[in-house]
Amino acid sequence: MSGQNAFNLQGKVAVITGAASGIGLETSKLFLRSGIQGLVLVDRSKEALKKAFSESSESDSQLCEFVEADVSNEDSTKLYVKTAVDRWGRLDICVLNAGILFLGIKHAGRAMKDNPEGSSGSIVVISSQLGLEGAPGLSAYSASKWAVRGLALTAAEELTPLGIRVNSVCPGPIHTPLLDAFEKESWPVMAGKTLMNRLGKPEEIANAVLYLASGASSFCSGTTLKVDGGYSKFG
Ligand SMILES: NC(=O)c1ccc[n+]([C@@H]2O[C@H](COP(=O)([O-])OP(=O)(O)OC[C@H]3O[C@@H](n4cnc5c(N)ncnc54)[C@H](O)[C@@H]3O)[C@@H](O)[C@H]2O)c1
Repeated sequence: MSGQNAFNLQGKVAVITGAASGIGLETSKLFLRSGIQGLVLVDRSKEALKKAFSESSESDSQLCEFVEADVSNEDSTKLYVKTAVDRWGRLDICVLNAGILFLGIKHAGRAMKDNPEGSSGSIVVISSQLGLEGAPGLSAYSASKWAVRGLALTAAEELTPLGIRVNSVCPGPIHTPLLDAFEKESWPVMAGKTLMNRLGKPEEIANAVLYLASGASSFCSGTTLKVDGGYSKFG
């Protein structure tokens, strides 16, 4: 990697789930600016994906495949992985940003194991600062985000010997449409819990995802990267 930009994704093929909004959308845009060879963008609605990427250049559009899929469905998961392999013959990066992750790890891991130049890849899962601590009223969400980290650590133990790295990002409160589920009055309260007294931006999480997806993090697997403005005091 010396002398090269280790964050460059040239020659890499990636899948990003939840790509039509928020963190997934900003990560997709950053990957397109980072030299990616092919990008499978997954969300529940193809229309939402088309709308989100409607201003993409012609050359960027040619690098993308839109896949309408519910990531909690195994056939849909197989479909988005197959889309990458059918078009580009490989899968190097899988960003599991939406919903259920187990199926994504299972099928992306299998495809990465069969990459033409040998088993290799990078899987990045999105947990949360609530996967590092608790929050009143959010027990189910917090429990699911702790589970995401447990899953990622287990997958790292299983897949790293095969050349496939697995890492997780724990975002703090980020200004995306997800926050619309909370009363607007609670936003300054969330912001006030960070040491920076502000909400994060989705592009600040995208930067962390790019680090873990790319060769820049070549010695990281089983890593939990907190990007939360100092909110969580643990982990
Ligand atoms: N925004 C935050 O404050 C915050 C903080 C910590 C963690 N996170 C995590 O980051 C990830 C992305 O969140 P966001 O803030 O960008 O949310 P968002 O609502 O802006 O975007 C999520 C996207 O995922 C898609 N999606 C959801 N379930 C899906 C499914 N089953 N199949 C396919 N697509 C699905 C949605 O349609 C949407 O386009 C989530 O895992 C979330 O829990 C967000």
